Amino acid sequence: MKFFIDTANLAQIKEANELGILDGVTTNPSLMAKEGIKGTEAVMNHYKTICEMVDGDISAEVIATDFDGILEEGKKLAAIHPNIIVKVPMIKDGVKALKWFTDNGIKTNCTLVFSAGQAILAAKAGATYVSPFIGRIDDSGWDGVELIAQISQIYSIQGYKTQILAASIRSALHIVKCAEAGADVCTCPLDSILGLLKHPLTDIGLAKFLEDAKKTV
Ligand code: E4P
Repeated sequence: MKFFIDTANLAQIKEANELGILDGVTTNPSLMAKEGIKGTEAVMNHYKTICEMVDGDISAEVIATDFDGILEEGKKLAAIHPNIIVKVPMIKDGVKALKWFTDNGIKTNCTLVFSAGQAILAAKAGATYVSPFIGRIDDSGWDGVELIAQISQIYSIQGYKTQILAASIRSALHIVKCAEAGADVCTCPLDSILGLLKHPLTDIGLAKFLEDAKKTV
């Protein structure tokens, strides 16, 4: 399973990248706004900076919701860097745009996916990635990881090539469960990635080893 970091914060991207396990970055308009990035030029420059920091797929989301607008914006985003993945919402014109981008060699990430039916449409349109939002599904009282397993089974039976990108991750446990359920990629906040490191027995064991090491010098 590939690891993406889900943020537009450059310090966090740098920290995750330095761990050596980062395969890409996802952003969305809310994450860009959180970093105070304002205006088209600033947004484009921010994506360029991220592309220069991380050698991997970088998702950049369109704001337009009509077919022509999505194409215009998507083409501009794709021109920033060869690693840009154009992120398109799961709406009718979004599906049409996904197909157009696929036919024209532009990689895509279909976002705001909450059902297996939507994931089938994204795959049929040739999306490179499909992003089920598992944390938001959990928040609404359903089981997000179960959706990952269901999509994984359907894609495997049908031979769809679209990669399942588990998004809206809330914890280290989510990452483990998504790996188990067949996600190809997990896009995670830095805290959830670092959460994978933690186990009390590791801390206790290391303290003991360091204590005993003193006896050997
Ligand atoms: C990433 O591609 C998604 O936009 C993101 O994971 C959504 O996460 P949230 O539900 O925490 O906003």
